[in-house]
Amino acid sequence: MTRVLVVGSGIAGLWTAIRAAESGCDVTVVTKAAVGAGATAWAQGGIAAAIFAGDAPARHAADTLIAGAGLGDPEAVRVLTDEGPARIRDLIRFGVAFDRDDSGIARGLEAAHSRSRILHAGGDATGAAIQAALIATVRRRGVRVLERTSLVDLVVDAGRVAGIRVIPGVRDGSAASVGAEGMGELRADAVVLATGGAGCLFRYTTNPEIATGDGVAAAARAGAEVADLEFVQFHPTALAVPGTPLISEAVRGEGAVLRDAEGRRFLAHVDPRAELAPRDVVARAVWRRMAEQDGTPVVLDATHLGAARLASRFPGIDAACRAAGFDWAREPVPVVPAAHYAMGGVVTDLAGRTSLPGLWAVGEVARTGVHGANRLASNSLLEGAVFAERAARDLGSAASAAPPATPSPAPVAGRITRHAAPLGAPAGSSDDSLLAAPAMANAVVDRGELQQLMWDRVGLDRDAEGLAAASARLAGWHAPEPVDRRSAEDRNLLDLARLTVAAAMARTESAGAHTRTDATSVTDEREAA
Ligand code: SIN
Repeated sequence: MTRVLVVGSGIAGLWTAIRAAESGCDVTVVTKAAVGAGATAWAQGGIAAAIFAGDAPARHAADTLIAGAGLGDPEAVRVLTDEGPARIRDLIRFGVAFDRDDSGIARGLEAAHSRSRILHAGGDATGAAIQAALIATVRRRGVRVLERTSLVDLVVDAGRVAGIRVIPGVRDGSAASVGAEGMGELRADAVVLATGGAGCLFRYTTNPEIATGDGVAAAARAGAEVADLEFVQFHPTALAVPGTPLISEAVRGEGAVLRDAEGRRFLAHVDPRAELAPRDVVARAVWRRMAEQDGTPVVLDATHLGAARLASRFPGIDAACRAAGFDWAREPVPVVPAAHYAMGGVVTDLAGRTSLPGLWAVGEVARTGVHGANRLASNSLLEGAVFAERAARDLGSAASAAPPATPSPAPVAGRITRHAAPLGAPAGSSDDSLLAAPAMANAVVDRGELQQLMWDRVGLDRDAEGLAAASARLAGWHAPEPVDRRSAEDRNLLDLARLTVAAAMARTESAGAHTRTDATSVTDEREAA
């Protein structure tokens, strides 16, 4: 029986675990906090799929490629959008009750979608509904779950991933099988990374505190290919209060508008789609308008939607606004961009296989190629489901015991930055040196300073000077010994920050969410799409 370790417990991890267990694998889920404590449960807007009359997967695919600035992989996008409707039916079977209206399942609209095709649950609690259904299914299937167990590194034997090194949970004893306190090792025939994103690289993020890029960093240290790390999505509308809670794009889909400090709408001057332009366009416009008004946040005006509608359609956001002291039915609320999603990650093929034998990656940690340079709203839960299903089928097939082939389709040369950077690899190429502690490193990394540095220098607007300054500052830090969850995360954040900065330096033109203010060229194939 194939022994599978799934690292992470959001939609991609639990989906893989459930389906791999159903196909006869012996599955253990390892997750560093409580099961389901990641970003999936925080997803508000919903999940996109071409299930409604008047829509088609090809239309969804075209929207996805356009939003991605033309840099998405057409075959991966075709898979995503063709298989999306079947995964929605699976979710319903798992127990997700999508919201309904007089026409049947209710359909929402979000930016850059040419059709209303967003399914939601509990108004703005779609992710929480999906997470709860998947946790219940995992429990029904009897899948083992080790909570509060942190990934430290991949174990690689003779070129094949053969397990993971972990810091076992110490609070609830759930990881007792790993051994005593200290580093433990879990062996497996297959390891599936489903560790989510890395919003905590930045000072302001909509992500939960566990989004520290653990899977990408561990995979890169082990020598896996990673790519597109320069493409970090900043959501345009986080509430401008500590914690920067998300205000879903679905609110703009319902008609809310953005105004500057003078109360003027400004997006129509930037893009004819105004508030419903792709997320990178809106976020950049908000950022620049804020700069023009000395950093004062812009405001999101949803007042015309009325208190009753706002409370019923967006109960979570309504509560968040009220908790922060705002009545958004009566007054526009201040919003700012915040780091939201990683388009890049561990390079995979269409079955979730990475460049390392024995290692798969699914969900936000993976770079499947579906998002290009900017993810289309509500495609992330869908990607988690579609590619987890494919990875689980692959794991369940006899072929999975054999070393995987080279990832296919191959990333398009010139459009991505690859790094295969084993930790401690001999110096000699620029890639090799990215993760090795620089000789002059003299201080242990400070997480708050790193996050501020990344926000200031590697945020919505980037240039060579700022990136060089970030690179130099990062070189002056070294990682702590990974002795507990916090130190393991700090090590991952430092490694991933270095890789991200290097990728941003290497891409000297602007593309999607990666804006180089010093660039003379823009890669944007949206117009041609
Ligand atoms: C949102 O609800 O605005 C976020 C949805 C997403 O990130 O796809």
